[in-house]
Amino acid sequence: MAFSSTLLLFAAFAITLTNAAPSPHAVCSDGTVVSHASCCAFIPLAQDLTENLFENECGETAHEVLRLSFHDAIAFSQSKGRSAGGGADGSMLLFPDVEPNFAANLGISDSVNDLAPFLASGKFPTITAGDMIQFGAAVAVGLCPGAPQLEFLAGRPNATAPAIDGLIPEPQDSVDKILARFQDAANMNAEDIVSLLTSFVHPSVARADHVDPTLDAAPFDSTPFTFDSQFFLEVLLVGVGFPGLDNNTGELASPLPLTVGDNVGELRLQSDHAFAHDPRTACFWQEMINQEALMASRFKAAMAKMAIIGHNAEDLIDCSAVVPKPVPALKQATTFPATKSIRDVQQSCPLPFPSLSTAPGALESEIPHCPDGQTSCDVVRSGS
Ligand SMILES: *[C@@H]1O[C@H](CO)[C@@H](O)[C@H](O)[C@H]1NC(C)=O
Ligand SMILES: *[C@@H]1O[C@H](CO)[C@@H](O)[C@H](O)[C@H]1NC(C)=O
Repeated sequence: MAFSSTLLLFAAFAITLTNAAPSPHAVCSDGTVVSHASCCAFIPLAQDLTENLFENECGETAHEVLRLSFHDAIAFSQSKGRSAGGGADGSMLLFPDVEPNFAANLGISDSVNDLAPFLASGKFPTITAGDMIQFGAAVAVGLCPGAPQLEFLAGRPNATAPAIDGLIPEPQDSVDKILARFQDAANMNAEDIVSLLTSFVHPSVARADHVDPTLDAAPFDSTPFTFDSQFFLEVLLVGVGFPGLDNNTGELASPLPLTVGDNVGELRLQSDHAFAHDPRTACFWQEMINQEALMASRFKAAMAKMAIIGHNAEDLIDCSAVVPKPVPALKQATTFPATKSIRDVQQSCPLPFPSLSTAPGALESEIPHCPDGQTSCDVVRSGS
């Protein structure tokens, strides 16, 4: 009985493959209905990445793959032409000795090394490098409680050359420069850029940003990330200090510089601060606070644009049906961190600020993080 139904399944699958091009639907072996049979190959990849790379967690590895998806995609320029870079084409994975060495890509080789074995494994022969990166990011995002189920279009041809240096926005860049870069890459606007920033994109951990080298080896926050609007609130709080060395390029004083338990102090990027206060984006920024549904829908829309930079959507196949369903939201309200309140907000939008409570807890047990393991690095450095 079981044997004959397996045979039937294979027969159905073979027919689907033969009719692939004109057929509006196909059914994968697990029952997922897709727009094209070629989408089915991503189902075992999602499972493999979830279990063996991300270990079912919205943690550092998931965060780094999302960062890779952005750095691969944004390396495209309408003004400089296709020879400058192919956008979301997997060039990071296919030329691992070129782009990952650019200063703006510092640390990206971790995620390149994470995904390369999946590309080389031979288990997914139909999946290209660019698809591997963007699908990997969609799987990663879905592991974060509250994240949207991202769109995924498949069929990015493999890159034939690496991108040039200078196309990745950096935290020390001005708002004007970053706006111009996104416009040139993909006609993306200021709201798209703000929409790409979330607590998951910018976890309250310095390590991920490689702005302060002394923090790269810092103990990593072991709490998994969630997809929430805490980031949009915290960037508006007045800065009081630095989590490691003071005044790194692209860094400003943070409202939460101190290490508490396993949580490494928060590092503030200059570009986040600039977008939070720029008159073109300040109100959109503030509107995100405690509005997770809005945040998720705008993030999804901006990610859909980013993921296909360098391609026409009409040339790709909609395989969104194979993106795993995200982990449900924790439904926690955004709160001021312990001891912080509306008095700590530097508001640049004239609209009323949302009413929020303050998380319980005191800051008395905080221990400053110092590169030498001492507790008084700020004092020593400000005297030097
Ligand atoms: C893309 O490149 C990878 C890695 O070299 C390779 O395994 C794969 O077959 C290529 N895919 C296509 C469609 O050329
Ligand atoms: C950091 O930069 C600010 C602004 O340029 C300056 O006022 C401050 O003295 C610097 N702090 C240190 C410790 O260098």
